[in-house]
Amino acid sequence: MSRLRVAIQKSGRLSENSLEILKKCGLRFARSKDKLFWYGQDFPVDLLLVRDDDIPRMLLDGVCEIGIVGENIAREVMLQRNGGTGLVCRRKLGFGHCRLSLAVPENMQISSSTELEGLRIATSYPELTRSLLAEKNIHTQIVQLSGSVEIAPGLGTADAIADLVSTGSTLRANHLRELEVLFESQAALYCTSRPLDEEKQLLLNRLLARIEGVLQAAESKYVMLHAPRSALAEITALLPGVEHPSIMPLEGSDKIAIHAVCGETVFWEHLEALKAVGASAILVLPVEKMLA
Ligand code: PRP
Ligand code: ZN
Repeated sequence: MSRLRVAIQKSGRLSENSLEILKKCGLRFARSKDKLFWYGQDFPVDLLLVRDDDIPRMLLDGVCEIGIVGENIAREVMLQRNGGTGLVCRRKLGFGHCRLSLAVPENMQISSSTELEGLRIATSYPELTRSLLAEKNIHTQIVQLSGSVEIAPGLGTADAIADLVSTGSTLRANHLRELEVLFESQAALYCTSRPLDEEKQLLLNRLLARIEGVLQAAESKYVMLHAPRSALAEITALLPGVEHPSIMPLEGSDKIAIHAVCGETVFWEHLEALKAVGASAILVLPVEKMLA
């Protein structure tokens, strides 16, 4: 019987959330402690724990069928290896947000990326940086580094950098100023664009449907409340992401109960607005699983 392989980051920013999503899909693994391969127990999907930078290459080489990796890395490797193609982003995962930004020394007199024309830019993302700058018609000398990009201007090996920024603390600690965002990135689920055999494709579709369900459930809340029947239209309009709520009569009362799955975040402000139009006994419950 066919099995699928999913590659995720072994240790780093994306590791915990990546594993969490797969577990919520009902996957359980027999983990071998330091080893890179975890065998899938209930569902024929095995896990490869690797360096995030290796994941796009492993997908392109057919070592695994699915990978969870930052869009920045996937784009860079596709540009290096395959003219920008070869991988398909199936779903952005909503975590691991960061941005690829141009940054310059704090004291450099410069206000726009166009002024970097002809200068030296240090980066670990040479092809992505080159192509994003080319779109802006800026041509620079790319200095490719595999790490510690932020110290390059101080060492005199580059005039500016293009690096990932999340909190900005690395830039601050190195007296660099973020000049311009080139690319917004987050963790995403990638597959190869090569066709899979039928059995693997069916497995992949099942896993993707479960992942979709996990992500949608995480964004959703089940809301229950009581209301005068006359307020139904107003209340429906106030429930975020709801078109068709369920309506139930309340025994011994002229009020109704309204139940709905809200597909968007439910804030305190929503509840206060519902109360203001006559809702009472408002309950907001988490949704554990969903299958459309
Ligand atoms: C990135 C980047 C910076 C740091 C920025 O490295 O290269 O060093 O994060 O984050 P901050 O704005 O919160 O300070 P990362 O940790 O992703 O390591 P990697 O590139 O080696 O995977
Ligand atoms: Zn990395």
